Amino acid sequence: MENSIPKIKIALITGGSSGIGLAIAYELAEKGYNLLLVSNQGSELEKCKTAIEKAFSVKCYSYEADLANPQSASELYNYCASQNFDVNVLVNNAGMLVFSEVINTSIEQVNTILQLHMVTPTLLCNLFGAKMRESKNGYILNVSSISAVMPYPGISLYGPSKTYMRHFTRAFRAEMSLYNVKATCLLPGATATGLYDPNRVNLKLALRLGVMHQPEFVAQKSVKALFSNKAESIPGVMNKIVVHFFPFIPQWIISLVYRKAGLIGIGKTSLGSL
Ligand SMILES: NC(=O)c1ccc[n+]([C@@H]2O[C@H](COP(=O)([O-])OP(=O)(O)OC[C@H]3O[C@@H](n4cnc5c(N)ncnc54)[C@H](OP(=O)(O)O)[C@@H]3O)[C@@H](O)[C@H]2O)c1
Repeated sequence: MENSIPKIKIALITGGSSGIGLAIAYELAEKGYNLLLVSNQGSELEKCKTAIEKAFSVKCYSYEADLANPQSASELYNYCASQNFDVNVLVNNAGMLVFSEVINTSIEQVNTILQLHMVTPTLLCNLFGAKMRESKNGYILNVSSISAVMPYPGISLYGPSKTYMRHFTRAFRAEMSLYNVKATCLLPGATATGLYDPNRVNLKLALRLGVMHQPEFVAQKSVKALFSNKAESIPGVMNKIVVHFFPFIPQWIISLVYRKAGLIGIGKTSLGSL
């Protein structure tokens, strides 16, 4: 039965409690969007919700979920239906960095990263994309990475799962253009977020050298690309160079550099942050 309560137009952002996702939330709130932030830490979500509602005259809702759970996409979709949310913008951003040789990674971690980076975002595109087709309007931003452009050892799960997201978005975008639904893929380069351990990576120096960007810069560029219906957003000049020229470097050189730098080798594992 149709719900008689008026629909609430919102932008749904996965991984909206920190880093790039949170910066995108601010960018969209500034444009007047009500928000639904999704991540797996309720207390962080509450803090973000309070801060956003204080800064902008929009409603911000939160939903706690482990998006690596195979049921999470359907549960999130059903939750939105129960709340009468009309998801006009979907941002598939939640992600994690696993720096580890595949055989040193637990089966649970392998499943988690593949579900989080590929299965759940695809199901969310399927479910919310069908609703957007009905209304002939909608925007989907899928977050990949510049590491998607070629295989790197040590991130054999992370990089290729982001390659999937890039190719999926390109094909999905062509399908959805028939229904006036826009899909854009974001390929960020190094961005100063919780993905990096500040004890191991000199964030200040990387920012000063221009090899790393602030999440606000990435969010601003990607939201602009989304609403201008661009196929891809690659914020930063260095990152554009990497995306276009790194695929020409022979794979044996990459493997050699990684081995010599000691980035791969027995026992090298870092889950969640570099
Ligand atoms: N930072 C970079 O250099 C960089 C470069 C290229 C691509 N990216 C991509 O950008 C996206 C955002 O990353 P970020 O740099 O902003 O890192 P971040 O600050 O660590 O944000 C990741 C977000 O994903 C959420 N998340 C992680 N696992 C989850 C799970 N199982 N269920 C629900 N939510 C989960 C986190 O929520 P909790 O905090 O509650 O766990 C957090 O909100 C990721 O897809 C990442 O791969 C980042």
